[in-house]
Amino acid sequence: MLQGKARAYTNIALIKYWGKKDEDLIIPMNSSLSLTLDAFYSETQVTFDPQLTEDIFYLDGNLETGKSSEKTSQFLDKIRQIANIKTFAKIESQNCVPTAAGLASSASGLAALAGACNAALELNLSEKDLSRLARKGSGSACRSIFGGFAEWVKGDSDENSFAESIAADGWEDELAMIFILINDQAKDVSSRDGMRRTVLTSPFYQGWLTAVTEDLATTKTAIATKDFTLLGATAEANALKMHATTLGANPPFTYWSPDSLFAMNQVRQLRQQGYDCYFTMDAGPNVKILTKKSQVPALLQELNKVFAKEKLITAQAGPGIQIF
Ligand code: DP6
Repeated sequence: MLQGKARAYTNIALIKYWGKKDEDLIIPMNSSLSLTLDAFYSETQVTFDPQLTEDIFYLDGNLETGKSSEKTSQFLDKIRQIANIKTFAKIESQNCVPTAAGLASSASGLAALAGACNAALELNLSEKDLSRLARKGSGSACRSIFGGFAEWVKGDSDENSFAESIAADGWEDELAMIFILINDQAKDVSSRDGMRRTVLTSPFYQGWLTAVTEDLATTKTAIATKDFTLLGATAEANALKMHATTLGANPPFTYWSPDSLFAMNQVRQLRQQGYDCYFTMDAGPNVKILTKKSQVPALLQELNKVFAKEKLITAQAGPGIQIF
């Protein structure tokens, strides 16, 4: 039996990946840039076992059967192809999040699985090739190979679409992210379905593609010059542009719930009070605040006035993938 284990941390995009050029290989329409965080990670063990007649996937001790196990099995098919084997695998994954917050992330999960398979099958992949592999599981996972800031350079083929580390001279350690967990009754649209629908039907999608190139360049300047205001303002604006595309889709949809809007307004108000804080959002209602580590205690005090303590989780920059 071939066995391997890895831990990968989740990442949050400051410049969003939104739309695929190639759905099978997961080649994105645009480059993206993220910060890997220390607070949430997936630890995954994979065992390729000739006795198995199908893949089995345990998440936090529970047998998974739905969409997440499908995504996982499709990914394993790709790995089996690369390694030229037919053996099925048992996957045991733990998602480590501070509370049961619905923050399970495909980025950390698929990156950890790629790392575990790399170890189990002795593929000896370089970081670049591991990033390419993780990308085929879930696009955003290719960025979780790296700690701190990472850019997924879109490329146009399997060979040249991968993430790489963006050196920030340790500046990432001065930053923090506060997650505001938002209750949501709305029916989920997965990021996969959401971006597909947007690319195919939203007249705003072309505008997104034009804007994101400039936002990415600005963000890289902000990192190079350690300009927090430029970094935060650009990230917030970029997230709003991504979410704007969904309203133009057919049928239209949004990831925002009323409480998301409330949270975004709180962040704007805190900024007016002088705090360095900007928000971003992904394919769900939670609001994430990018801020400076030095301002976290004061910000939490303010946020605690309107959000319950257990709805606020603080994270800092996290490390790259660890393979055991
Ligand atoms: C909004 O990486 O989850 O979080 O490639 O289909 O698995 P698939 O999508 P996924 O999409 C993430 C979208 C996002 C923005 C981002 O993380 O860049």
